[in-house]
Amino acid sequence: MSPSLVTVSYIGATILFILSLGGLSNPETSRRGNVYGIIGMTIAVLATVFGPRVTLGGLPLIIGAMAIGGSVGLYAAKKVQMTQMPELVAAMHSLVGFAACVVGFASYIDTSIQFTGAEKTIHEMEIYIGILIGAVTFSGSVIAFGKLSGKINGKPLLLPARHWINLAGLLIVIYFGHQFLHAETTAAGTFPLIVMTIIALAFGVHMVMAIGGADMPVVVSMLNSYSGWAAAATGFMLSNDLLIVTGALVGSSGAILSYIMCRAMNRNFISVIAGGFGTGGGQAAKTGEQPAGEVVSVSAAETAELLREAKNVIIVPGYGMAVAQAQHTVYEITQHLRQKGINVRFGIHPVAGRMPGHMNVLLAEAKVPYDIVMEMDEINEDFPETDVAMVIGANDIVNPAAQEDPTSPIAGMPVLEVWKAKTSIVMKRSMASGYAGVDNPLFYKDNNRMLFGDAKKMLDEVLVALMT
Ligand code: TAP
Repeated sequence: MSPSLVTVSYIGATILFILSLGGLSNPETSRRGNVYGIIGMTIAVLATVFGPRVTLGGLPLIIGAMAIGGSVGLYAAKKVQMTQMPELVAAMHSLVGFAACVVGFASYIDTSIQFTGAEKTIHEMEIYIGILIGAVTFSGSVIAFGKLSGKINGKPLLLPARHWINLAGLLIVIYFGHQFLHAETTAAGTFPLIVMTIIALAFGVHMVMAIGGADMPVVVSMLNSYSGWAAAATGFMLSNDLLIVTGALVGSSGAILSYIMCRAMNRNFISVIAGGFGTGGGQAAKTGEQPAGEVVSVSAAETAELLREAKNVIIVPGYGMAVAQAQHTVYEITQHLRQKGINVRFGIHPVAGRMPGHMNVLLAEAKVPYDIVMEMDEINEDFPETDVAMVIGANDIVNPAAQEDPTSPIAGMPVLEVWKAKTSIVMKRSMASGYAGVDNPLFYKDNNRMLFGDAKKMLDEVLVALMT
């Protein structure tokens, strides 16, 4: 493939990636967005593999690597459950970070291309910054994977003087950066590069370990952004324009998403990055301490009765609906109630579930029409006029402590105000707390009812009761 054809292919792929991001911003166009992304990536890979920079002798190696990587990816994508998706995404981010580190070291020790003067300085800066971002992304994503999959305790690890530790790390990285750029030989430059990599790895671990339970969504999207910048840095090191543009697109869209999530959770972006947020002013989230009061439980038949008598119903799905895979039954109930003239809508919290858009994906899969799926801001005012608010496997996102208790680890996070409905029904298996490990006073409110059991099983029973 000639260099000009490669350039044209890269421009085409870039346009497709931009269209893909545009499509992914709305559930109705997201499938199309995915298709654009797939076509763009296929063009990008073909143009790179068959471009002038790959020699004929290198082709078998590349094809072999693609076959191994592709099989692992295919296997993981087929095997992974919807509820494990965030862990898979974190694992993928770690690979991008790892690749940036490996490419960085390889381009430093590669002597086939010799740079001199300003070009040499720029190339070495690309390597130093590329490995720095790559190492933070790699170790941070590994810890995020551990926390999201429950292999590492979700509670924040707050080292004393953690901000000073971070600052000291930054100063050491700057000092060794200076040493690296002024090293006479490759051997002399390798030591500062290794020291910086170790500090960057430690910073990634420290940063994510210090994040409190409910703030993990911000970390996931932030690591997504970092992985984009790591890819862009790899593009600079390899002088690959498409990788630079693609990395910048992922990096900036991830940064915008992180900002939106911070706003949705009423968090300060810098504070989340510095760690310790979502920890109740420095204390670890309390668990096991039960608020006083009694809960009133209801049966599936009583739930069906409450729904049948209602005029307005709002359904609030959460992580438990994803675990139980109850979205199809939820929609069957919705259709049944709507046929009877009951106004049923869905209220979606921006961080419901375990990944951005988690609930929207599940509801779209069950073919719930988009016009009855409302964002938190669109529907929160309607709870006082609502007869039944049905909470399906959600906990943190409907916790009134976020508004009522300033010492709560989730204080200040906007929540869906289900307790303002005439009756709220919470569907879950036990009194266990949600992701943030915080007790929920909603369960003890006079107008709240608990329907204990697996969401799918209980909803099946509610549907049967509604039909009879
Ligand atoms: P959670 O607060 O985690 O609550 C989910 C509830 O579902 C649990 O209390 C659990 O109670 C119940 N549940 C689990 N399996 C169930 C089943 N089979 N049937 C019925 N109920 C079941 O979820 P949420 O309200 O959706 O809030 C999301 C939380 O995750 C927030 O703290 C958010 O910050 C965090 N988070 C979000 C993201 C993104 S990007 N969305 C990423 C990481 C973390 P039982 O065990 O008693 O059944």
